[in-house]
Amino acid sequence: MTITFPGGFLWGGATAANQIEGAYDQGGKGLSIQDIMPSGGMFPPVKGPTEDNLKLEAIDFYNRYAEDIALFAEMGFKTFRFSIAWSRIFPNGDEETPNEEGLAFYDRVLDELEKRGIEPLVTISHYETPLHLAREYDGWTDRRLIDFYERYAKVLFERFGSRVKYWLTFNEINAIMHVPLMAGGILTPLEQLSKQDLYQAIHHELVASARVTRVAREIAPDAKIGCMILAMPTYPLTPDPEDALQALHSEQANYAFGDVHCRGYYPGYFLRTLREVGVELEITDQDREDLKNTVDFVSFSYYMSVCQAADPDKQASGEGNIMGGIPNPTLKASEWGWQIDPVGLRIVLNDYWDRWQKPLFIVENGLGAKDQLVEVDGTRTVEDDYRIAYLNDHLVQVGEAILDGVDVLGYTTWGCIDLVSASTAQLSKRYGFIYVDRNDDGTGTLERFRKKSFNWYKEVIATNGGSLTV
Ligand code: BG6
Repeated sequence: MTITFPGGFLWGGATAANQIEGAYDQGGKGLSIQDIMPSGGMFPPVKGPTEDNLKLEAIDFYNRYAEDIALFAEMGFKTFRFSIAWSRIFPNGDEETPNEEGLAFYDRVLDELEKRGIEPLVTISHYETPLHLAREYDGWTDRRLIDFYERYAKVLFERFGSRVKYWLTFNEINAIMHVPLMAGGILTPLEQLSKQDLYQAIHHELVASARVTRVAREIAPDAKIGCMILAMPTYPLTPDPEDALQALHSEQANYAFGDVHCRGYYPGYFLRTLREVGVELEITDQDREDLKNTVDFVSFSYYMSVCQAADPDKQASGEGNIMGGIPNPTLKASEWGWQIDPVGLRIVLNDYWDRWQKPLFIVENGLGAKDQLVEVDGTRTVEDDYRIAYLNDHLVQVGEAILDGVDVLGYTTWGCIDLVSASTAQLSKRYGFIYVDRNDDGTGTLERFRKKSFNWYKEVIATNGGSLTV
């Protein structure tokens, strides 16, 4: 069988500002929540920026963006996903006027992408709420964040709307249920956060996402706005119908976010959950109107699948996974305990397409692994056959889904250049085609090296998937 990807398929790679840029206090940037999270999104924050926080310097993309984009172009990238750091544009988040130096930086990045013929794919908010909004408002629990976010997004559409076609409103919007600080700028720890505040924060983000979708249509009519969901297919641990029901409930907790973005209103099962946990959402008439501004496409991240069982004793969750779930006994896991399941990607693609009938964009997928820099024929590289195998097998399943009739816009591998991990804040959890010489203790020259997967991906793109091993 040959895998055929559609003409114009957007091959590329994905990143986020806080994980690559560094320069945390340059160019008028304010602090973001990431600047006080030296251990990653699954651990409590500290009081202020500390030396052990690798994100403060990250991989110095802020100063090396031209060199990095040249490497992406060498691989033949059609698109590059990056986020705009909200705190570069509005250092505190609640100011009236934006920081010109911040906007100018992204102008330069866009110039470079344009020069190389790479289509930008911009995330408006990727786990990097301005710290002031977390401290003063407890993040998205406060309705005023809708207005601050709208003001910020409006500035972006006005400034970049003619140059950027694809926009994502919130990275992994459903992750707020599990990591409210990282995904919602909420400083109150999850154990102390009331269900009322958590669901109200979710509502505020959903309204904000829909509202800026309307704003984009007014300011930049050619823009395509997508939501972004953390996809994690959930299988029943056994054929017991009760396990299947439990798996469905887990899926629904994620579907709800896509359902609202694609249908414009809350689904019945979600309203039932609210009633059962005793939450009464404050929803204004204007909110209901705003929610009707549905997205143009659905994007998602995909790394793994999990299982669910009705029996609470079986519900031990997998290692290092922010969403919980039971490890699947039939699958192998990565060095960080993430279960590797290429077929799960085909399942998600079919499922989401059938459910929402909107074009899909896989904006994150990849293998976080420990790499060894070696010398081959006088060139320093990484022989990352494990990463090639992972990506190949997932892409074959994307090809299968396309044959199934799913409309797939593109595929951007996560961390196309090594970057700082979101969950653990390590650099040793590497995803890239490009090795960055920086270690978990902060040492390293920041020099870039092409891994074996660099040439492999270059060939995949050049042949539009024809070189994949089926
Ligand atoms: C997603 C995030 O959760 O997964 C990224 O959108 C993150 O920001 C990626 O980096 C991989 O997770 P991790 O924890 O390995 O960096």
